[in-house]
Amino acid sequence: MMKGRVLITGASTGIGEAMCHYLAKQKHDLVLVARNGERLQALAKTLTEQFGVTVTSCPMDLAVNGAALSLHEWCKSQGLNIDILINNAGVGTRGDWISTNFDDEYRLIQLNIVTLAELCKLFARDMAERKQGWILNVASIAGFQPGPWMSNYYASKAYVLSLSEGLGHELKAHGITVTALCPGPVKTPFFENAGIPEEKIFANPATMTAEAVAAAGIEGLRSGKRLVIPGFINKMIAQSGRVSPRNMQTAVSGWLNQHSI
Ligand SMILES: NC(=O)c1ccc[n+]([C@@H]2O[C@H](COP(=O)([O-])OP(=O)(O)OC[C@H]3O[C@@H](n4cnc5c(N)ncnc54)[C@H](OP(=O)(O)O)[C@@H]3O)[C@@H](O)[C@H]2O)c1
Repeated sequence: MMKGRVLITGASTGIGEAMCHYLAKQKHDLVLVARNGERLQALAKTLTEQFGVTVTSCPMDLAVNGAALSLHEWCKSQGLNIDILINNAGVGTRGDWISTNFDDEYRLIQLNIVTLAELCKLFARDMAERKQGWILNVASIAGFQPGPWMSNYYASKAYVLSLSEGLGHELKAHGITVTALCPGPVKTPFFENAGIPEEKIFANPATMTAEAVAAAGIEGLRSGKRLVIPGFINKMIAQSGRVSPRNMQTAVSGWLNQHSI
C-alpha cells in the first residue's frame, strides 16, 4: 500500500499543484518545492486547513548545479524522510535552434534531466535502506518522438521516460516502484512560460485538465504501473511510433511545433 510523506517538485502551479490537492485529500504529508515561495506557502496553508495534513515548503531553484544535493541535505536536516518522490518540475523551450540562446536550453537540461536524475539517485538510496518507496517522474508524450523547434524539450522527456523505465525494472528488487507519467497537452501555465500560444492547444479536444492528469499519475503509481499515458488520443499518439517511420513522425511533430501551436 502506498503510504508516507511525499516530496513534490514543481508544486506551485499546474499538474504539481493538482497532485498536492489529490495527495493531501488522501492524508499524505507533503514537502512542496518550486521557486515561488509565496505560492508554496499559500498552498501549504490551504492544504493544512482543508485536509489537516502537515505541509512543508521549500522554495528553491532546481535548475542550478547542486540543487538536488542541497534539497536532499535540507530534508535530512529537517528530519523529513521521503517515502514518495514526485519529479514534476519541468520547463519547455521553443524556437529556432540557431537564433535562440543556450542559457535557456542549459537550464532546461539542469531542471528536466540533471536534477531529476540526481533526486532519483539520492532519495532511492534512502528508500532502498527502508526497502520501500515510490517515485513518479513526469515525462510527456513528447518523449516518444523527436520534436523539431522544441528538440531540447522532447529530448529531455525521452530521457525521463527511458530513465524511469530502466529504474522501474532495476529498483523493483529494492521495493521501489518507479512510474513515468506521459501526459499529452494539459491546461496549465506551461505553454505561456515556454512562449507558446495557448489558444489552439487549449481548444484541442485532447487537452486535459491538470486534475485529471494528476489523478491518473498518482493512481498509476499506487497500482505499480511502469508507464501512465492519460487519455485515449495520447495513447494512440504514443503508440504511433510502432507503425509509422520515425522520419515521418519527426516531420509531423516539427510541423505542429512550427505552425499549429
Ligand atoms: N502542460 C502540458 O501540456 C504538459 C504536457 C506533458 C508534460 N508536462 C510536464 O508536466 C510537468 C509540470 O508542468 P505543468 O504543465 O504543470 O507546468 P507549470 O504549471 O508551468 O508547472 C511547472 C512547475 O515547475 C516549477 N519550476 C519551473 N522552473 C523551476 C525551477 N527552476 N526550479 C524549481 N521549480 C521550477 C514551477 O514553479 P516556479 O515557477 O514557482 O518555480 C511550477 O511549479 C513538467 O515537467 C512538464 O514538462 C506538461
